[in-house]
Amino acid sequence: MNKSPRALIPGCDDLLHGGDYNPDQWLGIPEVIDEDFRLFDAAGVNTLSVGIFAWSRLEPADGVYDFDWLGRILDRLAAAGKNVILATPSGARPLWMAQRYPEVLRVDRQGRRETPVLRHNHCWSSAVYRGKVREMNTRLAERFGRHPAVKMWHVSNEFSGECLCERCVGGFHDWLKERYRTLDAVNAAHWTDFWAHRYTDWSQINPLDFTLDGLALDWRRYASWQVEDFYAWEAEPLRRLSPSVPVLTNLMGLFEWVDYHKLARQLDIVADDSYPGYVADSPEIVAQAMETSFKFDLLRCLKGEPRAWFLMESCIDGNSVWKPLHLKPPGLHHLEMFQALAHGADGTLYFQWRKGRGGVEKYHGGVVHHTHPEETRSFKEVSALSRRYEQVKQVIGTLNRADVAMLFDWESRWAYRAAKGLPKNDGTMLVRHAVAQYEAFWRRGITVDVLASGHDFSGYKFVVVPRLYLLQPGFAERLKDYVRGGGWVLLTALTGMVDETNLCWRDGCPGDGLEEMTGVWMEEVGECFPETELRVGTVEGNSLGLPLVECVAEGIYSRIHARGAEVLMSYASGWLAGTPALCTHGCGAGRTFFLAADLDRSGLDRVYEAIMRRRGLKGFLPERGLLPPGVTVQLRESDGRRYGFLMNFSKETKCVPVPGSGGRDLETGMPSGGGVKLDAWEVKVLELRMTKPVE
Ligand code: GAL
Repeated sequence: MNKSPRALIPGCDDLLHGGDYNPDQWLGIPEVIDEDFRLFDAAGVNTLSVGIFAWSRLEPADGVYDFDWLGRILDRLAAAGKNVILATPSGARPLWMAQRYPEVLRVDRQGRRETPVLRHNHCWSSAVYRGKVREMNTRLAERFGRHPAVKMWHVSNEFSGECLCERCVGGFHDWLKERYRTLDAVNAAHWTDFWAHRYTDWSQINPLDFTLDGLALDWRRYASWQVEDFYAWEAEPLRRLSPSVPVLTNLMGLFEWVDYHKLARQLDIVADDSYPGYVADSPEIVAQAMETSFKFDLLRCLKGEPRAWFLMESCIDGNSVWKPLHLKPPGLHHLEMFQALAHGADGTLYFQWRKGRGGVEKYHGGVVHHTHPEETRSFKEVSALSRRYEQVKQVIGTLNRADVAMLFDWESRWAYRAAKGLPKNDGTMLVRHAVAQYEAFWRRGITVDVLASGHDFSGYKFVVVPRLYLLQPGFAERLKDYVRGGGWVLLTALTGMVDETNLCWRDGCPGDGLEEMTGVWMEEVGECFPETELRVGTVEGNSLGLPLVECVAEGIYSRIHARGAEVLMSYASGWLAGTPALCTHGCGAGRTFFLAADLDRSGLDRVYEAIMRRRGLKGFLPERGLLPPGVTVQLRESDGRRYGFLMNFSKETKCVPVPGSGGRDLETGMPSGGGVKLDAWEVKVLELRMTKPVE
């Protein structure tokens, strides 16, 4: 499915490795900066992101700019042959600015101006802030936009949040006017006759009115659009004055409140900040690893098709100050970084290169510690990782190739969040549900592309639609075309309940014609509680060849009716006994599956294995065998080259069979033979010699 990717930085044939570099914190101690330049080479890092929180050094007083110190740093970095990702500093304002222009600060849900001591809390529509940002970015681009060290622009930092000031709320009303044109149309979309909330004037539309779930969804859309709009505002002078330097920002993976699929349209390269917080000694790490892999598969495909991307931030030792402190045992850091490469990243950077002496992040993991800079475990692990990257850099130019797509939409998350009377979504439920579907593929080394429902999925052999609660206009039609044309799709319960305005479909459930496509009507939804023992069993002689099994539903179940569909599994206990739990339906040349309940791990695995078998999907091992527990294999390939990343997320040593004619360990050059031993948290990269597709 992928085009051949090119290097992230033209002419740079190394995997990017480096981190956030804050010389602005050390201007008073220049020998530290000298030491940094010595240590960059000692650690083997090649890329530094610079100036992310440097505004008070760049503009020490209103209208007074000092870029000379930055110029000297960039010159030195260029001379040292390092790549610079130059930041715009808008993630944090200097204190003088909020003191002089309080409007630059956000207003919270209680109507209070936020405190100036925090970062990432500027008002999206403040004319003063926009003006200051535009001026700053213009000056930065004029001065450094063609500097030989500057290879990318890092816009702001981790965009997030909402502002409830009068201007932003007024902007919301304008946004609604543009979207709906008339008040009648908004009244219809927001279903305002509920509790007599009919709007008679635009000014009555209150973003905090949680009783109207259509309104709640629109507010989320608007708040996310404000981020896009602000990003575009920041990027404009950079693109104009520095046209050959790609512009991007650092994302936060599956962060709920910005629609990254929309924002991605403006990003030249996708970069992520990843803090999975691996708990090495607990079995929990495997679930964490699967979720991280899922996230990486989404990031690779964020722009609608697989593309090379990279990690902008990660934590070297596990101490990311804002999370529980789980130090990474030796090995785990390399595994965490290689995991990103395994899913298509062409580099990994840290927050932070050097730990500051003060501030609340002074104990946060860093390559360089406060004392004994070259003797620390962090420094040694980073240096060793640089050497490993040198050995495996030939993976650049390859990417993961998938026959399976999973769909994941931000708006669907927001719509479900706003719903009452459905099993509670705490913000993680939809992700956990998607990852539960993903597990069967991860454990077999089958690549999955995670796409938005608006992306093109027509070329995949199998599409999984996990709880896509809201259907975007035109999606159902495209899905039907895909299936009629021979595609296979599996929908899980609660897919297709509302339309794009968060109103329930009336033509069926799943709506917009999907009831007819799946041959299933979903009538009721319930939640499994500890006292619910809802068993699900296979129907004997079913056409999918599902073996006779019984499993348990956990999470959500639904009561469905087969309307033309064949029942493959049915509930086997309680009042639902005998009613359908998994149905399949032929539609044109293709096939649909509707899974009514959240089956336990063994049940899901059986279902997906049977579909994979019938659909001819290949795993890493013959017959789609399961990899050892805690192990996954991810493949990158291109033009006859294929690399397998074998990763062990467990603390036990594992032996991973290598099928076909084996492979060669990229780092040692040793042949793998028929199998590879992976110690606890170990990763190996094999160049696979297979000429035919992996069995
Ligand atoms: C990130 C942020 C960094 C740093 C880091 C600490 O979210 O972008 O500036 O605060 O967290 O983990």
